[in-house]
Amino acid sequence: MEFKEVVKNRYSCKKYDGRKVDRDQLQKILEAGRLAPTAKNLQEQRIYVIESEEALAKVDSVTPCRYGASTVVAVAFDKNRVFTYPGEKRDSGIEDATIVATHMILAAADENVDSCWINFFDPDQLAKALELPENEEILMLMDLGYAAEGAGPLENHTSRKELEETVSYL
Ligand SMILES: Cc1cc2nc3c(=O)[nH]c(=O)nc-3n(C[C@H](O)[C@H](O)[C@H](O)COP(=O)(O)O)c2cc1C
Repeated sequence: MEFKEVVKNRYSCKKYDGRKVDRDQLQKILEAGRLAPTAKNLQEQRIYVIESEEALAKVDSVTPCRYGASTVVAVAFDKNRVFTYPGEKRDSGIEDATIVATHMILAAADENVDSCWINFFDPDQLAKALELPENEEILMLMDLGYAAEGAGPLENHTSRKELEETVSYL
C-alpha cells in the first residue's frame, strides 16, 4: 500500500471479530517496530505479544478497551537503558517506545490489520499483573485484529484541525 494510503486508512478499531492476527502479518508488524529509530540506537523497547487466555484476562482486569481483540501487543521499555538528554529533564524511554508503537500500528494498517492504541489503564497495575521485570515500564497496549462486521471508524476519525491551527512558520 502507498504510504499516504496507509496513513489515511488507519483508524482506531473498537470492535473486532475475535480472530488472532495471522502469523505472517504479525511478523511484519513486529519487524516494522524492530526497524524503528531509537535515541543513540539503544533499542530499549520490550514487546509482549499477548494471546493466551490467561494473559488476555490480565489485560481485561486493567482495561475495558480490548474490544474483542484476541491479539494485544504491550509496548514497554527498559528504564535502565534509556538515554538521558542534556539538562537531565527528559529521557528517551517514552519517545522511543512511541516511535516503535507508531511504526507497528502503521505496519498493521499496511497489512489490513485493524488496531487501536490503548492507554486507558494503570501501567503499573498491568506490569504487575503480567509479572514484568521491575525495570520495565509499559507505554501502551495495541489491540490488533480484524474489524467485526459493521465496525468502522468513529465520527471523530475524520475530524482533524486544519494545518493553520497547529502549524506555525517562524
Ligand atoms: C495516545 C492514544 C491513546 C488512546 N487511548 C485509547 C484508549 O485507551 N481507549 C480507546 O478506546 N481508544 C484510545 N485511543 C484511540 C483514540 O480514541 C482515537 O485514536 C482518536 O479518537 C482518533 O480516532 P482515529 O484513530 O480513528 O482517527 C487512543 C489513541 C491515542 C493516540
